[in-house]
Amino acid sequence: MVQERRAYNFNAGPAALPLEVLERAQAEFVDFRGNGMSIMEMSHRGGVYEAVHQEAKDLLKELFSIPEGYDVLFLQGGASTQFAMIPMNLLAPGKVGAYVDTGSWAKKAIKEAELIGETAVIASSEADRYTRMPDLAAIQVPEQAAYVHLTSNETIEGTQFRSFPNTGDVPLIVDMSSDILSRPLDISQFGMIYAGAQKNLGPSGVTVVIAKEELLTVSPKHIPTMLRYDIHQKNQSLYNTPPSFSIYMVNQVLHWLKEQGGLKAVEKHNEEKAQLIYDTIDGSQGFYSGIAAVDSRSRMNVTFRLETEELEKQFAKQAEQEGFVGLKGHRSVGGLRASIYNAVPKSSCEALVQFMKEFKQQHS
Ligand SMILES: Cc1ncc(COP(=O)(O)O)c(C=O)c1O
Repeated sequence: MVQERRAYNFNAGPAALPLEVLERAQAEFVDFRGNGMSIMEMSHRGGVYEAVHQEAKDLLKELFSIPEGYDVLFLQGGASTQFAMIPMNLLAPGKVGAYVDTGSWAKKAIKEAELIGETAVIASSEADRYTRMPDLAAIQVPEQAAYVHLTSNETIEGTQFRSFPNTGDVPLIVDMSSDILSRPLDISQFGMIYAGAQKNLGPSGVTVVIAKEELLTVSPKHIPTMLRYDIHQKNQSLYNTPPSFSIYMVNQVLHWLKEQGGLKAVEKHNEEKAQLIYDTIDGSQGFYSGIAAVDSRSRMNVTFRLETEELEKQFAKQAEQEGFVGLKGHRSVGGLRASIYNAVPKSSCEALVQFMKEFKQQHS
């Protein structure tokens, strides 16, 4: 019954959540597991909440095969606050924050770091108008680099790295806001990963940071308490009141991911969903054209254009009338975008492909 009323949700974030998760949360919304109150009404210092908090961490470690020597933090302020916290905590005087410039989100990260310390852009795809990810096979990491920062998936342009560079002893820090947990990865190649939850992990309100402990314990003394990794790490992300409901929802999403068969199964599902839409674009004799270069195509955000802006507007409008939500491209790049994060069912992608074919028939 509920399923029939669900929209075909292609929102870029906040985005679709698994129906099973929403229903489970609904079932324990008012009375959380016999405690006579919702989880939102409980103290974050009590055992009931703490167990949910700790389980979310443990599930993330298990699902993502996070090795020993790493810790998981649940912070606030979105991924955007990490753009500042990373240089504040890790970019010491005399050091350089090395950045890979891949588009809209990478640029925002660079802008924040420039406010705080010395930065260098060591690779960029600006010359290609960010339609592809730069080739990082031969990147030169500056000797004084405190870290190398990159964005694994550019949500707006619809580009994604398939693999990551070897930065040697220099920690690799990755903004995975729009593709975290969409595929298995060898976590030991990263110094730090961070992501706002509202695309692949849960609702907005919590940001996940996964980092080597050695990066979480070196915060300089002059930075404010709430912006220090060391304080949050020492206090297991319970230094102040955490976004308890959001963390509970992340816990539920992680359970769901496990039930789907873990990240290998999730990756396969994501590949199939993306392939359906890219095949439709490629088979349309130019009626639809993909924005991203083929080797950089994102499996999370499929961006495409039609021949004219007028036609794109018509597509978006007609799609909306037929129950599709969130297909308009970001205002900064235009075009159309289907965000197909983990929780977007394949049936939504099949419905979109059907709509795309019919729209083409009507307009070509
Ligand atoms: C790749 C990427 N980085 C950072 C952000 C910013 O995240 P937040 O809104 O949680 O600050 C977004 C949000 O869309 C994103 O897609």
